[in-house]
Amino acid sequence: MKANVKAVVFALLFSVGTVVLGDAVVRLGITQSHPLRSPSWVYAVPLPHPSDGGVDAPFVAPPPFIAFAKDFEGFTSWERIPVEGAMNAVGAKPGPTAVYVKARPPPHSTRWPNGSILVKTIEHERMEEWVIHAMVKRGVPYNRDGAIGWEFFELKYDPSDAKLHIVWRGTGPPSGHGYAAQGRDAGPGGIPLVCNDCHAAAWQNDGVLTPALALHP
Ligand code: HEC
Repeated sequence: MKANVKAVVFALLFSVGTVVLGDAVVRLGITQSHPLRSPSWVYAVPLPHPSDGGVDAPFVAPPPFIAFAKDFEGFTSWERIPVEGAMNAVGAKPGPTAVYVKARPPPHSTRWPNGSILVKTIEHERMEEWVIHAMVKRGVPYNRDGAIGWEFFELKYDPSDAKLHIVWRGTGPPSGHGYAAQGRDAGPGGIPLVCNDCHAAAWQNDGVLTPALALHP
């Protein structure tokens, strides 16, 4: 009985002491002074947030990639995939069509990493006459209503400075630069379509349509 009383008194003193000490620590400004928060020494051992259960690491979005004309230089020396019977822009002079890949994504990827560059050409005679379209993985949430993360480009080769120039860039062509589609399924008249119409439909392959570039997660 006596021992029990001692224990109760001790427990009381201890808890009062703790509160007083904690209060003093807070008052002295030794820890954060928010009145509803316990002093920081109570949290000496970091505890996981309840919502972190089962998550290995917090998701950190990779930085976006903004391409410039120089990023496309030398694309004809990248991996080249010839395309038969390609979907071509209306008005494009005919020629061999190919898709060039700057770098393939790592094996088992479900998305192309930011900075990925794909170029599609219709190679009519000299390079200044080629139609050159490109897709660059800029990063989520760019183009969130279309081929998510991808920025589209039209490029032109200028023989006077032997460089590629950006004709337009963005989530699609400006008016007057409409891609429209002819060939294959589009019929003789062509169908006015924008880049996102076709490429967003390929969402299961991260917007990329060339069969040889199918992702294998
Ligand atoms: C009518 C549908 C259609 C439209 C519109 C379209 N594309 Fe494509 N695109 C394709 C198909 C299909 C391929 C795969 C190669 C092929 O068969 O021609 C492709 C391939 C590409 C590629 C190579 C990467 C890939 O996805 O395979 C790029 C780059 C590209 N297109 C850019 C553009 C740009 C830029 C526009 C808009 C100006 C555009 N495309 C509009 C159908 C389309």
